[in-house]
Amino acid sequence: MFQKDLLKGKTVLITGGGTGLGKSMGLRFAELGANLVLTSRRLPVLEEAAHEMEKKGAKVLVKASDIRKYDEIENVLTEADKVFGGINILINNAAGNFISPTELLSPNAFNSVVGIVLNGSFHATLAAGRRWINRQSGGRVLSIVTPYAWTGSAYVVPSACAKAGVLAMTRSLAVEWGKYKIRLNAIAPGPFPTEQAWENLVPEGFEEKWKKRIPLARTGRHEELANLATFLVSDFADYINGDCITIDGGEWVSGAGEFNMLTEMTPEDWGKMAERFSKNKK
Ligand code: HXC
Ligand code: NAP
Repeated sequence: MFQKDLLKGKTVLITGGGTGLGKSMGLRFAELGANLVLTSRRLPVLEEAAHEMEKKGAKVLVKASDIRKYDEIENVLTEADKVFGGINILINNAAGNFISPTELLSPNAFNSVVGIVLNGSFHATLAAGRRWINRQSGGRVLSIVTPYAWTGSAYVVPSACAKAGVLAMTRSLAVEWGKYKIRLNAIAPGPFPTEQAWENLVPEGFEEKWKKRIPLARTGRHEELANLATFLVSDFADYINGDCITIDGGEWVSGAGEFNMLTEMTPEDWGKMAERFSKNKK
């Protein structure tokens, strides 16, 4: 799908790049010639992912940080300046999330998720954006949100509030920083199996129910998301700014259309409806 050196000469910072979708994006970017900066709290996890990316030919810098703390992400960017002369692309991917009846949450539980997802994405975007503006280099930000950033969702209120905020930041800065040639976009994935998301968020038997409400009747494949991310951060998407692309097999629109439940009708049911129409006509 892509030319082999599509991302040659680009350095990509991925927050939460040691696991799940962050790691899958990193591996794809490495295959296409990018160098990488990976950050999250657990250094050994980052080192293991970096090793796999290096095998694909990438130069990889790993540095532990808690993205909730601005100084720590600032240090990551300073290190990237020294090693690579700066980054060209930022992927806001780090997240925390759990399912819970909201009335059982403590204020600290809310702060914990919002701190990682919303404050963390803002911290990384601010640290990268200030550098790009000073250097007049331009830059690209891609944030991983979810379709419930605009629909909301029961039982994940802290995450829904935080992802809505990240989407608002994306659209706001796409306008404000357009003059600096900084593009900001988002991807809203439906369910893509990853170890931690499934551990924290998927009760037993839930995946089968999920598949029933997804028109394409399956969960996402990591390479599908990685390819979309690659396109959006590449030069080929240089006129896409301030948008959010959904990749969910049609899940969220299937819950939205008034008559979508009619997918359950059998050919016989449709026959009965046809009879009813013709009777009414007579
Ligand atoms: C209720 C919980 C909780 C739970 C923690 N807390 N887990 N409350 N239900 N399951 C509360 C704690 O009691 C505490 O509040 C506060 O949250 C902070 O807890 P810590 O253990 O100190 O957590 P912390 O180190 O801040 O870690 C953050 C985390 C953790 C969110 C709690 O789960 C994490 O690091 N997750 C990263 C991985 C992850 O979640 N990935 C999934 C992303 S998928 P008190 O008041 O007791 O101090 C995704 C979208 C999925 O986002 C969409 C699917 C389609
Ligand atoms: P994941 O593997 O749990 O990834 C989350 C990453 O965030 C981890 O690598 C974690 O690393 C890092 N992180 C958490 N708290 C951090 C902190 N305070 N500071 C720095 N890094 C931190 O989950 P995933 O499923 O791949 O999710 C990736 C992204 O996709 C998230 O934004 C998620 O909301 C989004 N998403 C996922 C799905 C899905 O179905 N999987 C659907 C929609 C959206 P450490 O623990 O080492 O810090």
